[in-house]
Amino acid sequence: MSRKRVAVLISGRGSNMAALIEAAKDKTYPAEIVLVASNRPDAAGLVTARAAGIATHAIDHTIFGKDRAGFDRALNRVLEQNRIEIVCLAGFMRLLTAGFVSQWEGRMLNIHPALLPAFKGLDTHKRALEAGAKTHGATVHFVAPEMDSGPIIAQGAVAVRDNDTEQTLAARVLAVEHRIYPLALRLVAEDRVQIVDGRCLIDGVPAPDTASLFPSD
Ligand code: GRF
Repeated sequence: MSRKRVAVLISGRGSNMAALIEAAKDKTYPAEIVLVASNRPDAAGLVTARAAGIATHAIDHTIFGKDRAGFDRALNRVLEQNRIEIVCLAGFMRLLTAGFVSQWEGRMLNIHPALLPAFKGLDTHKRALEAGAKTHGATVHFVAPEMDSGPIIAQGAVAVRDNDTEQTLAARVLAVEHRIYPLALRLVAEDRVQIVDGRCLIDGVPAPDTASLFPSD
C-alpha cells in the first residue's frame, strides 16, 4: 500500500506533530508527513519540522481579519498543491469553517486533551481536577463542524492522582497523546476506520483493543 500524504496543522509548540513525524520515520508506517502548516508564523513547531527536513508553510491568520472563509481557502490551496490526503490538527488553535470541514470530512483528525465527550474546549486539565474526575485522558477524533465533536477514533486514559496539579496531570496526558495520535493516524491511513451512524468502527467493531490505551499508572 502506498503511504498516505499527511499535513499536520499547528499553532504552537508542536509536540504532537513531532510524535507523528517520529512515527512516520519508519518506512513501514502507512503515512508520511509531507507538510507542516501553521496559522502563526512564529510557531515553535515550524522550527522543529524544518529541522526534521519537512516542508513548512505559514498562513498568518491575522492578515485575513474576520474573513475565516478566506483563510480556509488559502489553507485548502496549500493542501491541494501538496496533494494532501489526510490532515492532522495538532494544537491548531483556530476554528475552521463548516465548508472547509465538510470538504475534509473523514480525512481530518484532531487531538483533544480530555476523554471526549467530557471537557470540550479549553483548560481541560484544570476542569477535570475541579470536577473531581478520577480518570482523565486524551482523544483523537475526526473533525466535525461543532468544536471537539466528531467520531472518536482512539482514546488514552490516565488515573488522576491525589496530589495532581494541572501541570502534573497535563504532563501525563501529553505522554498519552504522543502515543495515541500515531496509533490513530495509522488506523486511518490503513483504511481500517469506517464511520457508521456517527461512530467509528475499527476493523468492523466499535471498541477494539487497538484503539484504547490504559497506561498502568
Ligand atoms: C495538546 O495538548 C493538544 O491535545 C491540544 O493542544 C496541545 C498542543 O500541544 N489540542 P502540542 O503543540 O502538540 O505540543
